[in-house]
Amino acid sequence: MITLPEKISLANLPTRTYKLQKLSEKLEKNIYIKRDDETGVELSGNKVRKLEFVTAEAKSQGATVLITCGGIQSNHARATAVAAIKLGMKSVLVLRESEKGHAEGNHLLDLVVGADIRFISAKEYAEKRFEIMEDIKKELESQCETGYIIPEGASNGIGLFGYINAMKEIKTQEEELGMKFDAIVSCVGSAGTYAGLVVGSKLYNMKCDVIGFNIADTAPNFQKRSFEYIKECCNYLEGISPEILEITEENLIITDGYAGKGYALNVSADFEFIKEFARLEGIFLDPVYTGKTLKGMVSEIAKSNFGLEPNNPMADFSQYQNILFIHTGGLYGLFPKAGEMSF
Ligand SMILES: Cc1ncc(COP(=O)(O)O)c(C=O)c1O
Repeated sequence: MITLPEKISLANLPTRTYKLQKLSEKLEKNIYIKRDDETGVELSGNKVRKLEFVTAEAKSQGATVLITCGGIQSNHARATAVAAIKLGMKSVLVLRESEKGHAEGNHLLDLVVGADIRFISAKEYAEKRFEIMEDIKKELESQCETGYIIPEGASNGIGLFGYINAMKEIKTQEEELGMKFDAIVSCVGSAGTYAGLVVGSKLYNMKCDVIGFNIADTAPNFQKRSFEYIKECCNYLEGISPEILEITEENLIITDGYAGKGYALNVSADFEFIKEFARLEGIFLDPVYTGKTLKGMVSEIAKSNFGLEPNNPMADFSQYQNILFIHTGGLYGLFPKAGEMSF
């Protein structure tokens, strides 16, 4: 019996999991989708699952203000601002200023819910965002408020439980569907979703490969980062360690090669893929996370169908027949990209 930490219910769960008929026919595999983009409207996507656990911890520590950070179009920052409202709290969002334009997408929604937004430069963000958030926490103390700092993407030990819990949900859905996934695919942006799924797969004895596609940075860096979160997460689970779960940094399967020009940067092929998928299955992907991830997965499956070498030998899709893609949301990030799309 595995006891997870307390959570506050914020997401519409369980999310739908079903077969993508047309994509399955095209790729000659059984491709399923888990619609975590449907966890909510205001609190949508993968972040809300993490925030269920993170905000419970914040509340238990007496926090009155959630402090977090991200890019100007951060889905996580927007979800945090909304969660704060729903829980009778306030939020301070530390956002990277380099991308500042007129308010749209997630930034617009941050303003609509009245988040306290503090812009910092890309340099400051890279070098001292933690320090800046600590200073904000002190500033709040002088106003008799108690701040709780949530790292980028709510990716930390407690945040991982969102996707440990999702894995439990997937196991139940497998039973309902009468089938077994042999690969589960997710995006890797700050790695909490991926790392949570890996821990969940071991805790619930799923016997499947959990494959991440990084949309920025490099796979080795994310293996390192994921492993750190996994160690941190195990501190919440009595008697559990990465060794017991047989998780090592090296056996984390993250496939490189699909980040394109870098975080939140797109080429026209990304938008073509998003349009093609919307026209095939009637589902919207986002340009920063899910578009690049599914494009990567489809490319790797196509390569395996032609007997070509995979980008990551640990994730050779020729060995999988039943594949689950987790749609982690992000639709609001499509709107600020309208100018880059052609029709
Ligand atoms: C829509 C969406 N999908 C995927 C991710 C990546 O998840 P994670 O940060 O847990 O790696 C993010 C955030 O980074 C996101 O906003």
